[in-house]
Amino acid sequence: MKIVVIQGPNLNMLGHRDPRIYGNMKLEQIHKNLETLAKQNNFEIEFFQSNFEGEIVDRIQECVGTADGILINPAAYSHTSIAIADAISLVGIPVVEVHLSNIFARDDFRKKSITGALCAGVIAGFGPFGYHIGLLSIMQIITEINLAKKNEQK
Ligand code: DQA
Repeated sequence: MKIVVIQGPNLNMLGHRDPRIYGNMKLEQIHKNLETLAKQNNFEIEFFQSNFEGEIVDRIQECVGTADGILINPAAYSHTSIAIADAISLVGIPVVEVHLSNIFARDDFRKKSITGALCAGVIAGFGPFGYHIGLLSIMQIITEINLAKKNEQK
């Protein structure tokens, strides 16, 4: 079972970027922690970060038929990108959205997530631990889907 983690613009700058909002942990460390958790649960995991909307759309499309779930932080594109939202709605596998900060407690323009509305769920405000919760969630959803498929075959 494979999960793809997709990180949007400016998340490559974690550690440097406003630590009061985003904390001190670098993206590499968040990914190392996710890799450990995925391995413990016998899931394969891949990581992708891009500052470009179209590249994120491409990476989501590549998941069709090749991955079982997506954990995504579309960053600022969450609030603006119909293209990424459309890609999420066509991909046909569960997608969980994560935000480090509590987007509901910030600027008005961050309170709405266009992409999050198309995801199985959204986790926001727990800092890097949100990725941990997000990965647990997506693994659980995939496990339940597979169980349901097995039961259908019986
Ligand atoms: C973010 C929240 C977004 O509003 C912001 O543009 C980001 C990061 C978060 O993880 O808290 O880049 O997605």
